[in-house]
Amino acid sequence: MSKRTVIKGGTIVAADRSFEADIAIEGETIVQIGAGLSGDEVIDATGCYVMPGGIDPHVHLKMPFMGTHSADDFESGTRAGLAGGTTMVVDFCLPSPGQSLIEALEGWHAKSQRACGDYSFHMAVTWWSEQVFEEMQQVVDMGINSFKHFMAYKGALMVDDDELFDSFRRCAAIGALPMVHAENGDVVATMQQKLLADGIRGPEGHAMSRPPEVEGEATNRAIMIADMAGVPLYVVHTSCEQAHEAIRRARQKGMRVYGEPLIQHLVLDDSEYRNPDWDHAAQRVMSPPFRDKSNQDSLWAGLQAGSLQVVATDHCAFTTEQKRTGIDDFTKIPNGTGGLEDRMPVLWTEGVNTGRLTKNEFVAVTSTNIAKILNIYPQKGAILEGSDADIVVWDPRKSKVISPETQQSVVEYNVFAGREVTGLPRHVLSRGTLAVDDGKVCATPGHGRFVKRPAFGEVNKALSKWKEVTAPRKVERKPENMPACV
Ligand code: URP
Ligand code: ZN
Ligand code: ZN
Ligand code: ZN
Repeated sequence: MSKRTVIKGGTIVAADRSFEADIAIEGETIVQIGAGLSGDEVIDATGCYVMPGGIDPHVHLKMPFMGTHSADDFESGTRAGLAGGTTMVVDFCLPSPGQSLIEALEGWHAKSQRACGDYSFHMAVTWWSEQVFEEMQQVVDMGINSFKHFMAYKGALMVDDDELFDSFRRCAAIGALPMVHAENGDVVATMQQKLLADGIRGPEGHAMSRPPEVEGEATNRAIMIADMAGVPLYVVHTSCEQAHEAIRRARQKGMRVYGEPLIQHLVLDDSEYRNPDWDHAAQRVMSPPFRDKSNQDSLWAGLQAGSLQVVATDHCAFTTEQKRTGIDDFTKIPNGTGGLEDRMPVLWTEGVNTGRLTKNEFVAVTSTNIAKILNIYPQKGAILEGSDADIVVWDPRKSKVISPETQQSVVEYNVFAGREVTGLPRHVLSRGTLAVDDGKVCATPGHGRFVKRPAFGEVNKALSKWKEVTAPRKVERKPENMPACV
């Protein structure tokens, strides 16, 4: 018989309600929720909120990109996540152009073996052929139900509209969810060359080459293509009002379009790129770039109103040394920033502590909505009997100042450094095993497991049925209604 652990004395905060109860765990699973529970081991949650572990739907660990690899691997990345209350991450498997999706997936499984917390993958469609078309079904059968498309990074990961349309239609047929990085890659590439020719070579050029309009246009285009294909759409790293507006409008028209702001875009702005220190500015280069502050209100409003559903990090950390590859040309600065350890504390501090989000909304956008959208609810994203015991005991009074000195990520800076956060995990459990104990990280490399995400039934079926009902049909005409000459 496995040990019974009880989390006692806390307030359970779920996406739909808050209530006082204890939680009993046996093995990896929540087995009982109620008052006055007892067990072999007790975790004290007095004065704390007990929430489902965070899920970060967007990370890049050891990602091969721009001639290098992102610095955090599955071990340090998932450890950073756990330290901040995130018990599951979803990475992106990126086949190189021409590579089999299945072969790429084997590589991703191999490099995730030392993960400390649970993980899943999205599959990227980086090229298009009959082989890719066929293999997409196998990928779904292997537990991956989402396919990412880059509309930017011309000459590298970018795919064209015809490829998007083909791939989205394939997603519709196999019960998968297409995702897009929405930026107009052609315009960005031309803008980059123009700025370099004008002598703008520093990190500020990065933001200038990809303004909000570039993201808004691509978001609209992806939404139109998804609508034509009859499939839902997930827009990653929604950073500005222009993109949010497109998503909001689509949803108002009844389309199933999801938007994912990042914690970086919610609290950081493009003044960082004008910092006189080159390293400081380059460390913040990511796509889409940090935006004018006015966009932040739009993103917060989207989370409040439900037109944006989830908060991610796009954790893709590069060391300063790696960033310096672009010392005299901003287009060579590896794109990406970290945030896995900071997403939940920063969102709590800037969201819940300011009244912009309720505690229940916080749980929804960091965990429950993500589990539902990615089709792993209620195994993940819930405190329910039978759910995985991925649990955060959250101390709303605990404070710290974010510093690279104390972080789990291997990079030597932090884009949130110097920020004081109030609201931190006291304990974190990953499938019943303590990964943070009284604020100390005790995560075990190799404990993390690949989480299979089954194909979508309902939404894709409903959409393809509606597509069929409303499909173009020819008008049947009797000979007597035709002109005599035919
Ligand atoms: O700059 C970013 N976001 N780097 C990671 C790759 C991507 O576009 O998501
Ligand atoms: Zn083409
Ligand atoms: Zn992206
Ligand atoms: Zn990304």
